Amino acid sequence: MKITIIGTGYVGLVTGACLAELGNDVFCLDVDQKKIDLLNNGGIPIHEPGLEEVVARNRAAGRIQFSTDVAASVAHGEVQFIAVGTPPDEDGSADLQYVLAAARNIGKHMTGFKVIVDKSTVPVGTGDRVKAALQEELTKRGADAGFSVVSNPEFLKEGAAVEDFMRPDRIVIGHDSTAEGQQAAALMKKLYAPFNRNHERTFWMDVRSAEFTKYAANAMLATRISFMNELANLADRVGVDIEAVRHGIGSDPRIGHSFLYAGAGYGGSCFPKDVQALERTARQYEQDLLILRAVEAVNDKQKLVLGRKVVQRFGADLAGKHFAIWGLAFKPNTDDMREAPARMLVRQLLDAGATVAVYDPVAMAEAQRVLALDLNAEELARVRFAASAMDTLDGAEALVIVTEWKAFRAPDFDKIKASLKQAVIFDGRNLFEPDVMSQAGFEYHGIGRSILTRS
Ligand code: UDX
Repeated sequence: MKITIIGTGYVGLVTGACLAELGNDVFCLDVDQKKIDLLNNGGIPIHEPGLEEVVARNRAAGRIQFSTDVAASVAHGEVQFIAVGTPPDEDGSADLQYVLAAARNIGKHMTGFKVIVDKSTVPVGTGDRVKAALQEELTKRGADAGFSVVSNPEFLKEGAAVEDFMRPDRIVIGHDSTAEGQQAAALMKKLYAPFNRNHERTFWMDVRSAEFTKYAANAMLATRISFMNELANLADRVGVDIEAVRHGIGSDPRIGHSFLYAGAGYGGSCFPKDVQALERTARQYEQDLLILRAVEAVNDKQKLVLGRKVVQRFGADLAGKHFAIWGLAFKPNTDDMREAPARMLVRQLLDAGATVAVYDPVAMAEAQRVLALDLNAEELARVRFAASAMDTLDGAEALVIVTEWKAFRAPDFDKIKASLKQAVIFDGRNLFEPDVMSQAGFEYHGIGRSILTRS
């Protein structure tokens, strides 16, 4: 099938590359000429395992092209995916200007029937707004080409996006019941047929319910994390090991093991933004989502937990003290630092007067970029971007781990002990066992694991 993807950000690029991999003829559009040039020269603007290979293979096979030509992009695809950004507005609601501009562009140029797929995470009712914007453009030029707007939210996890796309646990498609809506559904069915061979993974629903499903999924996952983080903080007080509790409750199939990890708080481009946007939608309908407000508040607090533990241990004045930080990306296998807890930690330690050495296996360039925005020149001068994990340690009072990269899971503890000024580890992702660490001679501070660290 001929597919157009509008927006070559994270979602658009993965969707385009994977649909090309299935044999479709994909046209990727972006307004950013630099990004398009990079892609046309074989580069990839984001770090995502497997993506570069998929793009290269399909580019070589002529199944994917990148361009800034709007008219050509509209002419190309019978299915037009809108996968542009929906950044939060000042009030937390999703900013739809890019989505609606994409819809208008389609309306300005289309001649035959098109299916417009909202792939971006958009609030309930956006399908109607896309439809209205597109229709307005058609009316303006007196054209009467048919179209239908479909909602097909993505559930990709950064760091596993290609895998998630190629082996979806579900495909959610919302369409309306008009003749055009049925025609659109038939095309979507054909497009996703390769994933439904062995068993049907598609859930068909109306457009609004599909839009809502995405928010509900992320809000539920964020709720689980904040719930566990809140319990972990209590566990620290009462001498309970939250990891034992996690196993104990996760084995109940009604609860399940996933997304029960206490840690340094959730970050990334989805959870913080989507929780806020859902709360905002509720407020527009004069409903107060009490649970989600708490989820957000707990997470904001949780991002400060590591810094608080450091201050509790080393005092409020950290002037003259140096700390090592491992892990800057909001989670492993990505260089994404949006809403990353490490940014809060760096801010806290610098505010208390400390100097830091930081390291991340892939996010170093991104860290330099975002920390230069977060910090002033004097603060930035107190951050050393280290060449390796071990290179952060010399002269540090303690090591603070913020992201659970595989490479941090089995480090050379003797070397760590020899390099640190004091054998103290703050483990924001509970990578290690407290008793093993104390036997190895470390003072170990996990999240919710005070059973062995309380004094
Ligand atoms: C999420 C959803 O999982 C995905 O379905 C959606 O499409 C986009 O948002 P992503 O943001 O890539 O994906 O990351 P995810 O793996 O879900 O992790 C989100 C955050 O939660 C990370 O900061 C992670 O460290 C944190 N997390 C996750 C926890 O603190 N504890 C957990 O148990 C799981």
